[in-house]
Amino acid sequence: MSTTNEVVLYGASGYTGRLVAEFLREYSISFTAAGRDKARIEQSLATVPGIDTADYDIAEAPMEKAALTELFKGAKVVCNVTGPFVDYGDIVAEAALDAGAHYIDTTGEQPWVIRCQEHWGPLFAEKNLVCVPSMSYMYATSEIAAQYVLETPGIDTLDVLVLFKGIPTYASTQSFFSVLQHDAFYLQQGKYEKWQPGTSFEVPIPSEVMTALALPWGGMSHPVWFKDDHRVSNVRAIGGNHSRELMNMVLAATEDFEQNIRPLPQDEQKTILLSKADAMQSGMPPRENRRIHRTIDLVRGRGNLSQKSVLLNGTGAYLQTGLLQAVGAFHLLHNAPFKTGFASPCQAFGHNELFGALESYGLIKMEENI
Ligand SMILES: NC(=O)c1ccc[n+]([C@@H]2O[C@H](COP(=O)([O-])OP(=O)(O)OC[C@H]3O[C@@H](n4cnc5c(N)ncnc54)[C@H](OP(=O)(O)O)[C@@H]3O)[C@@H](O)[C@H]2O)c1
Repeated sequence: MSTTNEVVLYGASGYTGRLVAEFLREYSISFTAAGRDKARIEQSLATVPGIDTADYDIAEAPMEKAALTELFKGAKVVCNVTGPFVDYGDIVAEAALDAGAHYIDTTGEQPWVIRCQEHWGPLFAEKNLVCVPSMSYMYATSEIAAQYVLETPGIDTLDVLVLFKGIPTYASTQSFFSVLQHDAFYLQQGKYEKWQPGTSFEVPIPSEVMTALALPWGGMSHPVWFKDDHRVSNVRAIGGNHSRELMNMVLAATEDFEQNIRPLPQDEQKTILLSKADAMQSGMPPRENRRIHRTIDLVRGRGNLSQKSVLLNGTGAYLQTGLLQAVGAFHLLHNAPFKTGFASPCQAFGHNELFGALESYGLIKMEENI
């Protein structure tokens, strides 16, 4: 069954899918809430605030290229919130491309972002479509800060720190474990350099006297976005969860992978990693509380003689993700993207625009030169 709505949300039954649905309603966008299990989507969407006034229908389609291409026919935008993207991204992106729809997703997996840049980007560009992975918290929000930093002439080096409070969801945990099999990169003098597995940093928290443990988190999306930006030579992005207990578990899991799992065949590695992710997170976290689940996105920029920093104090990492997806879809329904092919959120939709949207919902506030 092809859709009569211009936006298809694939993965609507998940934690993030629900939030995207909530913000699509805020933007009065009619959408098809899709996924592999209709009953689960119905159950999940029933909990979305204000859903009775949303204009949507529900469609069931398995994670298969033919079924998804058929589903996406007639849509202008596909919002993909099914991870791990290293496993499922190709299927959904190819179906969107074949159906002639723009593609945006919520990934935080660097290997998938590189895959979009190298493989899918040129194919989307040929059709005047855009492919925007990481239209989500941890990435788009800190990219906004980075773009403001880069307005200072001479800045060529970006250090990015992202910290959030909250419980990662089932698929977020699976995504994190999935990328352990892949190398993680930062950018040095325009070239990818590999992070040593197990690298960690003790970082000051801008608003606290405490410090936090931050990790390269699989490399993050920023080194990929800025690789071809002539202004930028060096990018190091690190981050994680505010909870030291959780970060210690993540670090221990990384060390366990390097010592005990990496020597095994790839398929076996994958099975073990996914079962470890299952053991760490198996339930649906509660809806975020904006007084508790705060976020920090800090970017420090440096040139030979210049420096600039931008801090975004925010709240609700997953709420921000829901809003960002809706803002991207809204833009694409009304205007062409600022860039076709592979694009970062700010390249596709503009950092002022994305900042304005998040600020107007009370989700981020900017401080400069802290
Ligand atoms: N970068 C960020 O800050 C950020 C923020 C939010 C989300 N994300 C990413 O977005 C993804 C989704 O996160 P989430 O919070 O929504 O997780 P979630 O609550 O676990 O939901 C996962 C969704 O994916 C669907 N799915 C999983 N495997 C599937 C398959 N084989 N075929 C079809 N559908 C499948 C699930 O459908 P069922 O209900 O049928 O299982 C569900 O709708 C994750 O990869 C996460 O890392 C990233």
